[in-house]
Amino acid sequence: MQFYAVHLKSLKTLIDVVMQLSLKEKNRLKRKYGKWAIVTGASSGIGLELAEQLAEAGLNLVLNSRYIDRLRDVEKSFKSKYSIEIKIVDADVSEASGIEKIIQSTQSLDVGLLVVSAGYGTSGLFIDSSLHSEVDMLRVNCEALLSITHYYSHKFAQQKRGGIILMSSIVAFQGVPYSANYAATKAYVQTLAEALAIELKPYGVDVLAAAPGPVESGFAMRSNMKMSMSLKPSQVGVPILRALGRKTTVLPGVLTKILVYSLRTVPRWGKVKIMEKVMGGMTKHQRQQVVIQNGKQL
Ligand SMILES: NC(=O)c1ccc[n+]([C@@H]2O[C@H](COP(=O)([O-])OP(=O)(O)OC[C@H]3O[C@@H](n4cnc5c(N)ncnc54)[C@H](OP(=O)(O)O)[C@@H]3O)[C@@H](O)[C@H]2O)c1
Repeated sequence: MQFYAVHLKSLKTLIDVVMQLSLKEKNRLKRKYGKWAIVTGASSGIGLELAEQLAEAGLNLVLNSRYIDRLRDVEKSFKSKYSIEIKIVDADVSEASGIEKIIQSTQSLDVGLLVVSAGYGTSGLFIDSSLHSEVDMLRVNCEALLSITHYYSHKFAQQKRGGIILMSSIVAFQGVPYSANYAATKAYVQTLAEALAIELKPYGVDVLAAAPGPVESGFAMRSNMKMSMSLKPSQVGVPILRALGRKTTVLPGVLTKILVYSLRTVPRWGKVKIMEKVMGGMTKHQRQQVVIQNGKQL
C-alpha cells in the first residue's frame, strides 16, 4: 500500500513539473512575444489559465471579458503573485464597439501576443435552437475573432514579430450532430489559423490553432453539455504555450490526443457518426427534460 502511495506521489510530482513552463520556455515567450499580451476570455477557464502562465513568464497583460468585477478579481490575484503590469478591458466582443475598445486601450502598448479565448458553445437539436443565440455565438466565436485577428495580424506583420493563439477545438475536425453550429464555428477558426500560419510566417508572426478536447471550465454550463471526462485548464495551458512558434495546431493534453488520434483512420462520415453518439450522450439530459416537461414516461 505504502509502495503505491509513494509512486502515486512521484507521478503527481512529475505531472506537476510537466505542467509548468521551464525558465527557458518563460524567457522564450517573453523575448518573442513580450512585452504585452492581450487575452480575450481571460476571466475563466482556458483563457484564465493562459493569462496566468503568461503572467508567470513575466509578460504584461491586457485582460478582456464582459464583466469588470471578474476582471478585477483576476487582476488582484495576479498582482499579488506577479510583478507585471495589467490593464483590464471589460468589453463584449460580440459588438464591434467591444473590439474597438480593446484596440483603443492597447494603442500605446508594445503588444507581441494575441490570445483569442473568448468563446462559447451551444448544443441540442438545431431545429430547437434560437436563431438569435446561434448568431450571437457566431459573432463571438468567428466575427469577433476575425476582426481582432485582422487588426493585430496587420500590426504584428508591420513590427515583424508577434504571436496569435486562436482557440479551436477537437469538434473542428468533422460535423458534430447536436452541436452543429458550434462545431462549424470551430471549423472556421481551425481553417483560418492553418492558413494564416503560412501567410504570416514570412513576417515573423506565429499563428497557432489550439484544439483541446473537453475541458472543465465555464464552458459546459453555458453550452448545456454534460462532460463525462474532461481535462483541467492547467493540463492544456502549458502545452498550448509550448507549441506557439513550433506548430500550427496543438492538441493539448493526453485526453485530447487520444480522442483525436483514435479517430485518425476513420473516414470523415464515420467520425460524424461517432460524434453523433458522443454529443448525443453529452446532451441526452436535454431530451429527457423535454420528455419530463411533456409529462410523459422516460
Ligand atoms: N471547455 C472546453 O471543453 C473547450 C474545448 C475546446 C475549445 N474550447 C474553447 O475554448 C475557449 C475558452 O472556453 P473555456 O472553456 O475557457 O470557457 P469559459 O470558462 O466559459 O471561458 C470563456 C471566456 O470567454 C469570455 N466571454 C464569453 N463571451 C464573451 C463575450 N461576448 N465578450 C467577451 N468575453 C466573453 C468569458 O467571460 P465572461 O463570461 O465573464 O464575459 C470567459 O472569460 C472557447 O473559445 C471555447 O470554445 C473549450
